[in-house]
Amino acid sequence: MQKRSLALAALLILSSCAGHQQSVVDPAGPQADRIAALWWFFFWLLVAIFIIVMAFAVWTLTRPNRGLEQEPLEARHRPSEQKETQLRRIVTGATVLTIIILFVLLVFSVGTGKAVSELGNKNNGLAIEVTGNQWWWQVQYLNSDPSQVLVDANEIHIPVGRPVLIRLRSNDVIHSFWVPNLHGKRDLIPSRVTTEWIEADKPGVYRGQCAEFCGLQHAHMILYVIAEPEAKFKAWFQHALQPAAAPSTPITQRGQQVFLNNACVYCHQIQGTTASGQNGPNLTHFGSRRGIAANTLPNTPGNLGGWILDPQTVKPGNHMATIAVNSQDLQPLIDYLESLK
Ligand code: CUA
Repeated sequence: MQKRSLALAALLILSSCAGHQQSVVDPAGPQADRIAALWWFFFWLLVAIFIIVMAFAVWTLTRPNRGLEQEPLEARHRPSEQKETQLRRIVTGATVLTIIILFVLLVFSVGTGKAVSELGNKNNGLAIEVTGNQWWWQVQYLNSDPSQVLVDANEIHIPVGRPVLIRLRSNDVIHSFWVPNLHGKRDLIPSRVTTEWIEADKPGVYRGQCAEFCGLQHAHMILYVIAEPEAKFKAWFQHALQPAAAPSTPITQRGQQVFLNNACVYCHQIQGTTASGQNGPNLTHFGSRRGIAANTLPNTPGNLGGWILDPQTVKPGNHMATIAVNSQDLQPLIDYLESLK
């Protein structure tokens, strides 16, 4: 049983990774560039040190006895003046060299931190608030004009080539925001706001995840950053601001009724309907999302059906209520939610 669930977990991870990028050493933005440069510097320097240390170790272990056998016992324990001085020099030299290397690493590391913190900080408009919840991400596009404020979940759309301020908050415990292709980790701390700037140089879908243990489903707190050319981003944003389209077929109309007459509305909001719950992800454009359950599974009708019927099997411990949806209502409900593009 345990083997099977392990295999399933591995499959889930593989399937959710497929086609998306999540790599520290494949930077897609200036912040990640600096971090990757630091990483490679550490890597090659430490590889060189490792090889040198191993070479010395092998040499000491395999070299001939230096004629120690022939020396009188006394001499072996009391090295000559000359030998003593030589040894002292070697040890001092090695210590100084170690300190210099550590200092170089420190300077490079502090320099990278400073350079990264100075990137962004440009006042050109896009600020996104990301709120951590057990176990999903709320994403809110901030704007001084309330009609331009957009609430979304588990996906962040950004325009390519523009710095974006990410404001991080938490509703419960400490989480950590980490999209390796774009930036390092930044904690989300309850009752505090932390920030970081991200910027994507090229279009792509960058996978990120919570990087601070935050409870049972910490590993299933996944988000995607979707970087698009400015025009495409703007078009997406304007569409996403619209309320959900009214269901147009009898089956999706019925699905909407199922949704509105069930407990779904206490936690989820669908703009354009009476559903206005704030505890769970906003579902206004649910059908256009890549994944469900904070990207634990791809967003397919089959997965959605399984998730609605038995969320505790898909993601044990999560806070979604199990609602009794009968078999005639399930398909209309799935069709309705998937129609919310
Ligand atoms: Cu949220 Cu780990």
